[in-house]
Amino acid sequence: MTSMTLGQPGRDRASLAEAFRAVRAQTEKLCEPLETEDYVIQSVSDVSPPKWHLAHTTWFFEHFVLAEAQADYQRFHPMYAYLFNSYYNLAGEYHPRVKRGVLSRPTVADIYKFRHHVTEKMLELIDSVTDEELARIEPTLTIGLNHEQQHQELLVTDIKHILWCNPLEPVYREREHTPSQPVRPLRWLEFKGGLHETGFDNGSFAFDNESPRHPVFLNDFRIADRLVTNAEYLAFMNDAGYQRSDLWLSDGWYTLNEQKWQSPLYWEQRGGEWWNFTLAGMRKVDPNEPVCHVSHYEADAYARWAGKRLPTEAEWELAAAGRKLEGNFVDSGRYHVAPLSNGSSQFFGDVWEWTQSAYLPYPGFTPLPGAVGEYNGKFMSNQMVLRGGSCATPLSHIRPTYRNFFQPYLRWQFMGLRLAEDA
Ligand SMILES: [Fe+2]
Repeated sequence: MTSMTLGQPGRDRASLAEAFRAVRAQTEKLCEPLETEDYVIQSVSDVSPPKWHLAHTTWFFEHFVLAEAQADYQRFHPMYAYLFNSYYNLAGEYHPRVKRGVLSRPTVADIYKFRHHVTEKMLELIDSVTDEELARIEPTLTIGLNHEQQHQELLVTDIKHILWCNPLEPVYREREHTPSQPVRPLRWLEFKGGLHETGFDNGSFAFDNESPRHPVFLNDFRIADRLVTNAEYLAFMNDAGYQRSDLWLSDGWYTLNEQKWQSPLYWEQRGGEWWNFTLAGMRKVDPNEPVCHVSHYEADAYARWAGKRLPTEAEWELAAAGRKLEGNFVDSGRYHVAPLSNGSSQFFGDVWEWTQSAYLPYPGFTPLPGAVGEYNGKFMSNQMVLRGGSCATPLSHIRPTYRNFFQPYLRWQFMGLRLAEDA
């Protein structure tokens, strides 16, 4: 799945079925390198077992599409709604998130049976409903496809964490080592302040949290035309970046000490050199790759050390709008960040970029009605916005207005940063 668009309203039956088939197949393709035992592990509470992702994305279609559309729909298993509902309170009780990794049953084989059953039922539904009914279910089906793409990204990041926990350092997919070139100096993109528009309004699919489009006042600002590299981040580390409390937000300094952070996640020193765990195994840290697996606190401390700041999400969106949607996405099959290439400004792909913006509703935000309204809105506290997609994001999933969000202490997603400053 590469160039397919998932957000075209009013698609015909065949293209809807094709989009559905492709998304379902891509999820399973991401799991091909796994051994059965890999599917079951929950290494930390934020990481879900791969088999849970396979089942949860399936439950989403069974619950929100099949059971909604067909009054006589027989669920595949009476307990799966309990086991594989993630957090939708309006959809009923659910198994605690932190206990997803204690379930040896249903087996991986059972879950694939569940998947294939629901995939088949969905395709039958798309094929057989009236045009009116199809138009009615399409918005939820499209959310389901985008939801499954989000879990594809989580599969990649969770598999990475699960394999990293194993001293055998298992390889997910081999990747050839290619020597990189030094990255050119950073240049500043200048933007005039004033009233600008931000948010989604172009008619295809977006999540509810990207709307409504609204005016926002910005001062004159500059934003970097590329991401911060490992070489630059190492300069911060070598300048006692992790030892100087004056560079850190208070919560960040607390977390650093509690978690004993000395480097980004997945980094370790071997023989006096920095190595990092990748989905292709342990590799020497490449100075020319963008720094990755840093928390919001580390991104913020780095920016302060550099005498700059993180961009706001509105600044980032203004700078990214109108740019070609291209970059190092999961479609590349690299499953890792890539050094800057000629002509790129890295706004899309590689790493989700931390912004200094808290994840809050846009003025006039209205969540979708019903349980799917729990998708985004209820998480609008204590999280920060990240923009641009990563090397684990499907290209067809991203757009300039896309708002990702995580707690500021989290590092296991492909997260990095670019700098900004007041003009
Ligand atoms: Fe989900």
